[in-house]
Amino acid sequence: MKKILVIGSSNMDFRIRVHQLPKPGETLLSQSLENIPGGKGGNQAYAVGKLGGDGVFLSAVGMDAFGETLIESMCSSGIDASCMRRCLDCPTGNAMVFVSDAGENQIVVTSGANFCCDLPYLKQHAALFHDCKILLIQMEIPLESVLYALQAAKTCGNCTILNPAPVPEKFPEEIFPLLDYITPNETELVKLAGSDLNPDSLDDVRTGCSRLLQKGVQNVLVTLRKRGAFLCNRQTERQFLPPEGPALDTTAAGDTFNGAFAVMLANGRSPEEAICFANAAATISVSRKGAQSSIPSFQEVLQFQASL
Ligand code: RIB
Repeated sequence: MKKILVIGSSNMDFRIRVHQLPKPGETLLSQSLENIPGGKGGNQAYAVGKLGGDGVFLSAVGMDAFGETLIESMCSSGIDASCMRRCLDCPTGNAMVFVSDAGENQIVVTSGANFCCDLPYLKQHAALFHDCKILLIQMEIPLESVLYALQAAKTCGNCTILNPAPVPEKFPEEIFPLLDYITPNETELVKLAGSDLNPDSLDDVRTGCSRLLQKGVQNVLVTLRKRGAFLCNRQTERQFLPPEGPALDTTAAGDTFNGAFAVMLANGRSPEEAICFANAAATISVSRKGAQSSIPSFQEVLQFQASL
């Protein structure tokens, strides 16, 4: 089994249940407020651990109680969290996560200590780029850290997976040729490939994918919510429909998908097998509430697949 390096954010989520997502200028009363460990990096790292992957997580939290809870959650998943950074000067990152009756969400992140996932910290752990054959990274940490990590992983001949979430205002074009896989959702694909594209049209998704391939990416893997996932490379293109299931809360569905996909690649499975497994893992996560609290174990995904 190949070792996976996950680099990214850690947030304490404030999960706020509302009947409908707020409109501009609207005041709502919520049904409940809960703190649940989250952050795109944290969720993907948690998924790697919970799904039985051999992984290490690089991320920064504050010296506060939320930081402590996030590290505990990470350790409970089975991923190696021993290199996580505690920052003296910054509070742990947090996210306001509104979840509607329809299971849709709206998220606003306050980065805090995620800015401390910086170049000196990553350079301090540079040996991990040699040990880990797969890099899984997102964009809730400083952009220069993302670029450095991808360059370092490629220099070591590793497989790189970038989940481009959130897409920064100016996406550095030099990132594209460093990517074995880019895994945007349909909204992120439009931001990266052109605002003329309609994310609801599969033909436009196809066009967006070929634009990213032209920029030097090896594989574009778009997550399409209920429409599953779409894989596009220079040899092939294929849509993978997900298993059906109830949609209670879509928070961290994409993170579960990314973590599961990386674990299956690390286990030597084909990208196609990895996508089917990742779709099943994401369907389970959507049927449960919260971010890390919704991520299934390897056995749960196998049982779910067997029951289909
Ligand atoms: O992808 C879901 C995550 O986005 C949440 O857990 C929140 O912390 C934000 O990072």
